[in-house]
This record gives sequence, C-alpha cells and structure tokens, in this order.
Amino acid sequence: MSALAGRRVVIIGGGSGIGLEVARRAAAAGASVHLGGRTPEKLASAAKEVGGTWQVVDNTDQDSLAAFFGALDRVDHLFTPGASYTVGPLRELSDEEAASPFETKFWGQYHAVKHAVPRLAPDASIVLMSGAASVRPPAAAPAYVACNAAVEGLGRGLAVELAPVRVNVVAPGTIDGNMWAARPAAVREASFAQYRADTLLHRVGKESEVADAVLYLFGSTYTTGSTLYPDGGYALR
Ligand SMILES: NC(=O)c1ccc[n+]([C@@H]2O[C@H](COP(=O)([O-])OP(=O)(O)OC[C@H]3O[C@@H](n4cnc5c(N)ncnc54)[C@H](OP(=O)(O)O)[C@@H]3O)[C@@H](O)[C@H]2O)c1
Repeated sequence: MSALAGRRVVIIGGGSGIGLEVARRAAAAGASVHLGGRTPEKLASAAKEVGGTWQVVDNTDQDSLAAFFGALDRVDHLFTPGASYTVGPLRELSDEEAASPFETKFWGQYHAVKHAVPRLAPDASIVLMSGAASVRPPAAAPAYVACNAAVEGLGRGLAVELAPVRVNVVAPGTIDGNMWAARPAAVREASFAQYRADTLLHRVGKESEVADAVLYLFGSTYTTGSTLYPDGGYALR
C-alpha cells in the first residue's frame, strides 16, 4: 500500500501548475487532498478533478491562513508553492516590486507553516517551494534570487525546530507549464532557449518532474532539512 494512502495532503497553490500536478499524484496514491489558493473557480475545478476538497486562502494574509488551517483537523503533508510576485533588476524595480517575492514566497510560506503547526501530525512532512535561481542567479533578478536562498535557509531552520516533523525544500529549474504559459510567447521562447543552453540535459523541465521530487520528499522518512533541485543540472553547468 502507498505511504500516502489515507493521509491528508494540503497544498497552498494547488489549483494549477506544479501544485495541481502534486495533487493529482497524491490523490492517485490514495491521499485525501485539500487545495488552497485565491481563485474559487480554479480550486473547484482542480478539486473536482482530483476528488479533493478546497478552500480559498491568500498566503499574504495571516487571518486567511488562520481560517484555512483552523478548518482542518489534521495535516499529514503540506506543500506551499502558492506565490505571485514581480521579478526584475535592481535598477528598474520599485521597492514594493522587489519585496514582492519575499511577501508571498518567503513570508507566505513562513506564515503558512506557522498556522499549520497546531494541525501537523507527529510524523508530518512539509515541502517548501524555492527555485534553482537560489544557487545560480539569472541576470537581473537579485531580490528573487535572494528570496529563494532565504526559503532554503528557512527549510533548514524549520527542520531543526519542528523535528520530528520533516521539512524539506524543492528548488526547480525552468518548468514548461502553467506559469510560463501565462507569459508572452516571445519572452517564454527566449527564456526556454537560454535555459536549454544553460543546463546539462539541454531541455526545460515538466511539472510532473517536479511533482516526482515533491512526492519523494513526502515519503522519504529519513530526509529532512534537504533541498532537492529538479533542474536538469542547471546549477552545475
Ligand atoms: N514554473 C517554473 O518554471 C518555476 C521554477 C522555479 C520555481 N517555481 C515556483 O513554483 C511556484 C508555483 O509556480 P507554478 O509553476 O506551479 O505556477 P502557477 O500555476 O502560477 O502556480 C501558482 C499557484 O499559486 C496560487 N497563488 C498565487 N499567489 C497566491 C497567494 N498569495 N496565496 C495563495 N495562493 C497563491 C495561484 O492561484 P491564485 O492566483 O488563484 O491564487 C496558483 O494556483 C512559485 O513559487 C514559483 O516561484 C516555478
């Protein structure tokens, strides 16, 4: 029987992209899946597809996070990819834009864990979302790079504080999926071409390949405080 059978998997940012792909796989492995995000229609459709439940939550609003976790009786595995932010060069971004990855991707995940803690099972696991830019900065995205590095530090710090709950981080490279589909085709194609040149496997990744890494971290009972890079070797090239 799968280690996820009968377990409660909670995903903030589960209505699309990598989060939805994790939901599909967790549900297929027998987990009961609960999805969060800001858009009800998207969540309802995703939850229907995976046979799960959903509730609106905005990870930049602690009242919203308190209500989201307050409605749950138990969390066995938590994944928190939900984030929406601006990336750009120091010389061009306003301070508010530069802070936006920290607001939603760093503090959003920090506060999600804070509100989840009272609901976590003793053998629970948490997977935080980073990005391989943390270790190999692309041009002109310094605040985004720093935010991802901070998320990886947060994962290590939480692993120490919350043990025996396990806390790990997934840090993907460029992934062909929902996030990039929403960007202009010319920008996407130029970025993908650059990434193919920059990575050992000469291709961009798939959402399913990141979901494989997340499910591995959910189930890997002796792994905590680690960051896994499903990036095709981008960090090494
Ligand atoms: N795709 C890549 O190439 C790539 C590479 C490295 C890292 N990542 C990271 O992966 C994460 C998810 O990206 P994705 O590729 O799966 O794209 P995505 O489909 O855009 O997923 C983001 C999800 O998060 C939700 N969300 C956004 N802001 C939120 C908030 N404040 N509170 C709660 N939910 C929120 C969105 O739904 P609503 O808008 O309805 O809330 C959406 O369902 C991001 O943190 C990104 O930095 C992606």
